[in-house]
Amino acid sequence: MRKIVVAIDGPAASGKSTVSKAVAKELGFTYIDTGAMYRAFTEYVLRKGVNPEDEAACVKLIPEVTIDLYPDGKVMCSGKDVTREIREPHVSGNVSYIASYKDIRLALVELQRKMADKQSVVMDGRDIGTYVLPNADVKIYQIASVEERAKRRFLENQEKGIPCTLEDVIADVEKRDRIDSSRAFAPLKPAADSILLDTSKLSIEETRAKVLEIIREKTGI
Ligand code: DC
Repeated sequence: MRKIVVAIDGPAASGKSTVSKAVAKELGFTYIDTGAMYRAFTEYVLRKGVNPEDEAACVKLIPEVTIDLYPDGKVMCSGKDVTREIREPHVSGNVSYIASYKDIRLALVELQRKMADKQSVVMDGRDIGTYVLPNADVKIYQIASVEERAKRRFLENQEKGIPCTLEDVIADVEKRDRIDSSRAFAPLKPAADSILLDTSKLSIEETRAKVLEIIREKTGI
């Protein structure tokens, strides 16, 4: 079968990763969670005691950072298993700063393009359809209301035993939307040729089915 590249973008907690993972599994493609890469870099910045708002100091760390994504979801960053920690509030609350630094983005984008070069992928993020993989075979832009997204993330955190309140999660999602959409380089926005999918009223299963239908329609697989 020919190589197929699927880009799924959208704002924080819009359910992209759950759905992308399920769709990739069903199609036998590799799932690439680019948000996890920005999160891993953020964890490294915090681990080193560097201020995430200090762009020059964060950029200086680029040569020290290695990020590996494993098929089972494990994330390794410079010798440490960060799978769990990258979902915790101290990382979520700082990741948008790191993701706004152009040099860090360029380094991670290079890794992302390499991964999509050699295999069929479902890659989720913010700038996949617009910047990382502009020639993707399928581009989906997934949205949902702030309340719905915050509720989903809150329940997910509860399941994982990550302490937070719904108010905290709403504030975090709103803050990240604001920073992600307003950054100068590769901001969050739909690609002109993306298909808009509003999941506010869809279950995970319905969203998964819809995304698969779009991929099959667009690629003929
Ligand atoms: O999808 P997520 O919540 O795990 O993403 C974490 C942060 O990384 C999010 O605030 C925006 C940023 N990000 C990005 O700027 N570009 C990407 N391709 C993926 C994530």
